[in-house]
Amino acid sequence: MTIKAPTLNLPGLGVDPLTQRIKEKEKKWKYKIAVLSGKGGVGKSTVAVNLTAALAKMGYFVGILDADIHGPNVAKMFGIGNTDIYAEKFEDGHFEMIPPTVDFMGQVTPIKVMSMGMMVPEDQPIIWRGSLVTKAIKQFLGDVMWGELDFMIIDFPPGTGDEILTVVQSIQLDAAIIVTTPQEVALLDTGKAVNMMKKMEVPYIAVIENMSYLICPHCGNKIDIFGEGGGEKLAEKEGVDFLGKVPIDLKAREASDLGIPIVLYGDTPAAKAFMEIAEKLVNKLKEIKGDGREE
Ligand SMILES: Nc1ncnc2c1ncn2[C@@H]1O[C@H](COP(=O)(O)OP(=O)(O)OP(=O)(O)O)[C@@H](O)[C@H]1O
Ligand SMILES: [Mg+2]
Repeated sequence: MTIKAPTLNLPGLGVDPLTQRIKEKEKKWKYKIAVLSGKGGVGKSTVAVNLTAALAKMGYFVGILDADIHGPNVAKMFGIGNTDIYAEKFEDGHFEMIPPTVDFMGQVTPIKVMSMGMMVPEDQPIIWRGSLVTKAIKQFLGDVMWGELDFMIIDFPPGTGDEILTVVQSIQLDAAIIVTTPQEVALLDTGKAVNMMKKMEVPYIAVIENMSYLICPHCGNKIDIFGEGGGEKLAEKEGVDFLGKVPIDLKAREASDLGIPIVLYGDTPAAKAFMEIAEKLVNKLKEIKGDGREE
């Protein structure tokens, strides 16, 4: 059984213009990837931002959409603070936002970023009901001048709520990356996210285990702070791919405070892990969907 809602396209009613724009824009994005987890604080945004940076480092054109409307972190993780967003007016009267870009002094192809974090002062809470959140996400999809992208990465808030449902009903995702830590409780919640993506019939589902272990800076030994091998076991149990483990990076806080993704901040084990995972992901997606955009 699937819980995917049908698209209501009754004769005579037509599709609303925003939905139509989303459909048109989606055709220009080669691979659309959701990064989610049943659990908070496991590193979804860190994974989304570093996969984005890793893909852009490989020369791909990447956009990142922060679907965490209440707790938006993506802009900050790219060093973008509160900023003016410019928009263009179209003939039919609708406006489209121009997404700010970052290229870290030419280290990566320009990354297009769209996050609520750029629009609202950091200390101001966003007090919105679900319907407004849904509208904001649809506008981020359809009213932003994303242009042609190789990858559209979408970072979600914890859980399996409105945000992911809105996206799944608006576009055809190619992949869902489920982030977990090796801990038992995290794995329980993460299993739910895997099952939701299965029900939504997302073609490729894979698990990444974050904060898997720590390499002691003094003795070089590996310390399994949150246990061992949980992510792999989960992937095996659910019959989905396991893309890899990302260790705890002691420089992550420093990098994040500076607004630089780990993959662009030194040659650490976590940076290497993210680059390897990004390469695996590209190969998998090419295998599944081929090289071209949808027509
Ligand atoms: N591999 C890592 N090494 C060290 N610190 C990490 C690592 N991954 C994430 N962190 C840190 O853990 C904290 C939580 O990460 P992050 O914000 O990415 O999690 P999240 O799952 O997106 O959280 P939320 O559920 O609030 O959206 C951050 O301070 C981040 O810098
Ligand atoms: Mg997050």
